[in-house]
Amino acid sequence: MTPTSSGYGARITGVGRYVPDRIVTNAELEQTLDTTNEWIVERTGIRERRVAAPDETSSTMGARAGLAAIESAQIDPATIDLVIAATCTPDGMFPASATRIQHAVGAGRAGAFDVNAACNGFMSALSTAVQFVAAGTSQRALVVGTETMTRIVDWTDRSTCVLFGDGAGAAIVERAVEGEPGGVGAMLLRSDGSQAGLLWASGPCTPGAPGATNPFGAALAQEAHIVMNGAAVFRSAVNALSETSAEAIAKAGLTIDDIALCVPHQANRRIITAMAERVGLPMERVYVNVDRYGNTSSATIPIALAEAEADGRLKPGDRVLLAAFGGGLSWSAMVLEWAGVRASRAGLEAPRAVARA
Ligand code: COA
Repeated sequence: MTPTSSGYGARITGVGRYVPDRIVTNAELEQTLDTTNEWIVERTGIRERRVAAPDETSSTMGARAGLAAIESAQIDPATIDLVIAATCTPDGMFPASATRIQHAVGAGRAGAFDVNAACNGFMSALSTAVQFVAAGTSQRALVVGTETMTRIVDWTDRSTCVLFGDGAGAAIVERAVEGEPGGVGAMLLRSDGSQAGLLWASGPCTPGAPGATNPFGAALAQEAHIVMNGAAVFRSAVNALSETSAEAIAKAGLTIDDIALCVPHQANRRIITAMAERVGLPMERVYVNVDRYGNTSSATIPIALAEAEADGRLKPGDRVLLAAFGGGLSWSAMVLEWAGVRASRAGLEAPRAVARA
């Protein structure tokens, strides 16, 4: 894979993440749910998750992650000309959370919009940014995955609420430079809307939702929360992640032995290990932090990238596999060459104060 010739001509030059301070352990969930730490750890690998403070939203967390990515890339935010936020838990129906993030990080000249592909959101947003930058339409893009999943789970449903958490991650995308490492070599996006009922959440415009009234029809009360067929989602996730990963690696002209690190969507440790086994990747080359954050939906991959970079698990020139899966159903894989960031570890330092959007 030579990213600037056969790849997409765009690379990641900075990564950052923000997670809320509040930690909710499995032991704390035992107080209110008919569950145990042992059950949750054994079936999911999750030990704790973060919960956003009452005044935090997807845009405030996304802005903090964005500022961390900007510091990591050592760029002036005024030079960012595109902000894409992936979220299925936006601050509101509109405006796009990306516009609040654009303002808060000081990207005064950037266009901004949201992408919603559930847990596959960051990959969809990153693929979009790569195309903008590769085409020359944008010079520098900020891509954010940010979620307040704990506000859309049913806290009485033990089969779903133990899985999710809040947080945000971000990446800066710039043009690849001939002779320097870094570039996107292959990306695949897939979906199957016939399976939408396996994993979904209603919203204010769902027929029958509270507030979804009009003068011509009566509304039925319906809570806005995640509904999931866990076993079916599990099977689909393992199949989709492994098949698409293998396809993306082949498309990049590589083999599994070339992949230095796989950073998959963090939904469930068992899904990750099953996928790694199917594609023939030893777990030492797979990044896992689902134990600490649970499933933060579109934020899992950028949070994991920022942590992997800070942990020294990503080196310039490394071939990296990203793979995601989520409601839609929707899934993806991407193979890229790691460029390295200009200020390593900056992504995990406390970001500067964020202007209130
Ligand atoms: N604590 C204790 N017991 C629980 C529980 C919990 N938190 N949640 C479910 N159970 C129970 C079930 O009620 C069921 O009991 P029953 O046999 O008496 O009916 C039993 O555990 C087994 O349930 P099952 O659904 O078969 O368990 P599982 O091994 O499939 O694990 C999930 C359930 C949700 C962990 C698993 O299906 C999963 O992770 N699916 C993918 C979900 C996901 O990642 N979604 C997001 C994708 S982006």
